[in-house]
Amino acid sequence: MLTQEENEMLTRVGGGTPMGEMLRRYWVPACMSEELPAADCDPIRLRLLCEDLVAFRDTAGRVGIMEESCPHRGASLYFGRNEEGGLRCLYHGWKMDCDGKVLDMPCEPAGSTFKDRVRQLAYPTHEQGGMVWAYMGPVDLMPSFPDFEWTLVPDGNRSIAKVRTEANFVQGIEGTVDSSHGDVLHSGLDKILNQRGNFSNDTVPRFEIRDTDYGFVYAALRDPTEDADRLNYARTTNFVLPFHCLVPPRGFGHMHIFVPIDDEHTWDYSIYFSPTRSIDHQRTLERRSSVPGVDLFPDRGKIRTVENRFLQDRVAMRERRSFTGIPGNTMEDMAVQESMGPIYDRSKEHLGAADAAVIRMRNIMLASARSCARGDDPIGLGASIRFEEIRSHHKMLPKEHPWWEIGSYEGEDLIAAYAGAGVPAD
Ligand code: FES
Ligand SMILES: [Fe+2]
Repeated sequence: MLTQEENEMLTRVGGGTPMGEMLRRYWVPACMSEELPAADCDPIRLRLLCEDLVAFRDTAGRVGIMEESCPHRGASLYFGRNEEGGLRCLYHGWKMDCDGKVLDMPCEPAGSTFKDRVRQLAYPTHEQGGMVWAYMGPVDLMPSFPDFEWTLVPDGNRSIAKVRTEANFVQGIEGTVDSSHGDVLHSGLDKILNQRGNFSNDTVPRFEIRDTDYGFVYAALRDPTEDADRLNYARTTNFVLPFHCLVPPRGFGHMHIFVPIDDEHTWDYSIYFSPTRSIDHQRTLERRSSVPGVDLFPDRGKIRTVENRFLQDRVAMRERRSFTGIPGNTMEDMAVQESMGPIYDRSKEHLGAADAAVIRMRNIMLASARSCARGDDPIGLGASIRFEEIRSHHKMLPKEHPWWEIGSYEGEDLIAAYAGAGVPAD
């Protein structure tokens, strides 16, 4: 349970709020590279951390992200012309480059120095891993880029699904560091109704958590269906501040990122990847119910919403063909997270033993925001952090092997058990 003040601090992301200021100290995924497919292509509108922005790829292929409103008299630069190294406002022709420098003011007198004295708010960008990232904090405090493993694999070995959630970003993180819901929401047909799980029938995992320099890692330890006296069925999940969750792999590594659009809307990026194997992107999107034009509108808002009850199939539920009546893990997650309301009032909840990682995540986020507000660094920006080595695991582990060293255990690896034809098992 949180107080209402803590809940406000945890969830509000606008400029000037403690969490908003903290989030601006990290590199933030702004959009997918494919949304800006070529030099001088159409600009796109972006809303990030409550700020209305426009993104464009200039003639040289660089990506600029700047305030949407023109610095002259506020016309939207989204309508602008993207050509010859900058974005030109339609109204009076002011033209800005990727850095926000004003290149041209056609209505000002020749020889005027006015354009040298105006600058559009623009954020540094970095492109890596099929994603455009922005840094929205003070430039003198810009951290080095977090080289997550998924950003370093070949493009064909990665599949990014992008879906808009109509809820605050913390609700997405909570669902992802909450290992116990998988036994019910996603596997309830087998585990709750039929009492037969894939590797375990145990729906009461023991949680153990260890703090790390990037956030924390936790293990959900269950009794396996076989050899329960000798083995733990272990699944580890990493929470990397401020919104990255590396969850147990299903044939491919799996990262979730929850980027706040504003206080009540979130981009959910679900990324499958492998250092060695290519992935069938289209089939992966289908499996995730995340296909634009089918499951999503072109702007990646969902066709299934709380208002239409996520088109829940009650007949399938009654006939025990589906536990939830909602297809796919992604839509199941979003249905429950959005059903809590756009910003859940955590002063009303009742947390149990299965919520240990949720509690740790909130505490570490609040501690980091408070640290930042005091003038200290937020958590997880240390230059020595090896982001590329952070991995989640999914193994049968001998009970005597420390779970936090699961990566070094070379025994039975359930990734191999899941290895499908280029598509994550899910
Ligand atoms: S409002 Fe953009 S150039 Fe005038
Ligand atoms: Fe889930």
